[in-house]
Amino acid sequence: MRCLRSYRFLLTLCFIIGFIVLIYRLCSISKKTTVSSINNLSNKINERLHLLNQQFQHVNISMLLDGPSSDRSPSLTYRCRKWCGGWGDRLRGITSAFILAVLSKRRFYIDMPYPCELTKLLKPNLYNWHPIEFEANRNQLRIETTRSPQLARNIYEKISLTNFIKDWSIYDDIYLTTNSDYITPALANKHIQNIVQLLNLSSSDMSQARLFPLLYELLFQPTDQVKNSVDQVLTKLNNDNNIRKQLICLHIRVGKNPTMIHDKILSYRDTIVEDIVEFVDKNLTLNKQSIIFITSDSMKINQYILNKYNKSQSISIPGPIIHIDRLSTSYSSTEQCQGFLKVISDFYVLGECDTLIMSRSGFSEWASRRRYLINPFHQLYLYCRGIYQVTGHKWRRPHVIC
Ligand SMILES: *[C@@H]1O[C@H](CO)[C@@H](O)[C@H](O)[C@H]1NC(C)=O
Ligand SMILES: *[C@@H]1O[C@H](CO)[C@@H](O)[C@H](O)[C@H]1NC(C)=O
Ligand SMILES: *[C@@H]1O[C@H](CO)[C@@H](O)[C@H](O)[C@H]1NC(C)=O
Ligand SMILES: *[C@@H]1O[C@H](CO)[C@@H](O)[C@H](O)[C@H]1NC(C)=O
Ligand SMILES: *[C@@H]1O[C@H](CO)[C@@H](O)[C@H](O)[C@H]1NC(C)=O
Repeated sequence: MRCLRSYRFLLTLCFIIGFIVLIYRLCSISKKTTVSSINNLSNKINERLHLLNQQFQHVNISMLLDGPSSDRSPSLTYRCRKWCGGWGDRLRGITSAFILAVLSKRRFYIDMPYPCELTKLLKPNLYNWHPIEFEANRNQLRIETTRSPQLARNIYEKISLTNFIKDWSIYDDIYLTTNSDYITPALANKHIQNIVQLLNLSSSDMSQARLFPLLYELLFQPTDQVKNSVDQVLTKLNNDNNIRKQLICLHIRVGKNPTMIHDKILSYRDTIVEDIVEFVDKNLTLNKQSIIFITSDSMKINQYILNKYNKSQSISIPGPIIHIDRLSTSYSSTEQCQGFLKVISDFYVLGECDTLIMSRSGFSEWASRRRYLINPFHQLYLYCRGIYQVTGHKWRRPHVIC
């Protein structure tokens, strides 16, 4: 009898201790999630690097990062001083040039003082691409494909079908200005497979689209200026109960308009604003737990969206709206830097969206590839004469021009 009573006592004690431990655990878990969920860009970038590291752990990263280190080594520089396209075009060119440099064992640099020194906004991350002054009397090759579609095609053919590494070996320094994907053809080139194999890529990595998230993060980290401007948006997502609000992003690009008088005219975008707003109102759940982020090439559209949704529910990054390649001469150099800052900051925000509605544009397409912490294709939509859900790498848009 006494035995039974002390047994019951012990059992109750165990329950109480178990209960206390459980409460303690729960508390420390919620403490942990509060700490790790501080929603700022630095944290997001660290989490992203960690995931990329796992996803690409089979890749020979040291081949990407440990190229020749001497200033006298042969080099390949991505150069953008004029006529190099918007940020989407430039990212295509930069990542192409980087892989070509890696494959040809050249030191890689980025030279982009236009429209404002790039290093004011982005710093090298794990690869130092800071441009240097070369000694005189070096043998140079300049390739500028952005001014000539014919040259772009010739280079594409050369990189697809010949041992271009050998042909280029007579040059010390190569300067490349391009907005083409030369990664995909280079990786498939039969003549250089002995070098490509050293990267140990898997068959699904063999394209610019797949490698982009890794290459971007290896090359770039934002400056404090960019971090501050992005964090203005990200901190708005924290609500009182530590539930992160959903970020719904709209990239509405309409082409030539009063904000961008030198831009090209884009077709099939007359009703883009109405169509996107209707989609947001009908197909998405907008409530206190969500925020709309807008980036547009039109000041009028930007303001329209901010006015349409409540102040507490919509946000954009302040600053002049400029096209970084089709500049209006009326901008001062300060405005050009502020405009470029806004472009880069918008790009980082688009990488954090829970839902993303894109215009057909390299800018938002590359940004969507950085949505690694969720899934690049999670609630991803493209405006292409109407709104379509983008479902994966193999998805094809319904119209070529849209
Ligand atoms: C981001 O949050 C971390 C804490 O999680 C903090 O250490 C860091 O200073 C923050 N960064 C910025 C730029 O606020
Ligand atoms: C190369 O990749 C394969 C998987 O694709 C992996 O099993 C192997 O360990 C990798 N080799 C190295 C040296 O990392
Ligand atoms: C990784 O790349 C380096 C060249 O940078 C090469 O020497 C090495 O053999 C490669 N490793 C593997 C496992 O292929
Ligand atoms: C904005 O907020 C006001 C009052 O808080 C509310 O009456 C109105 O419906 C809201 N508008 C939208 C578009 O949510
Ligand atoms: C939006 O909702 C309508 C009506 O439910 C549906 O027919 C349409 O397919 C949805 N659009 C997308 C892109 O999912």
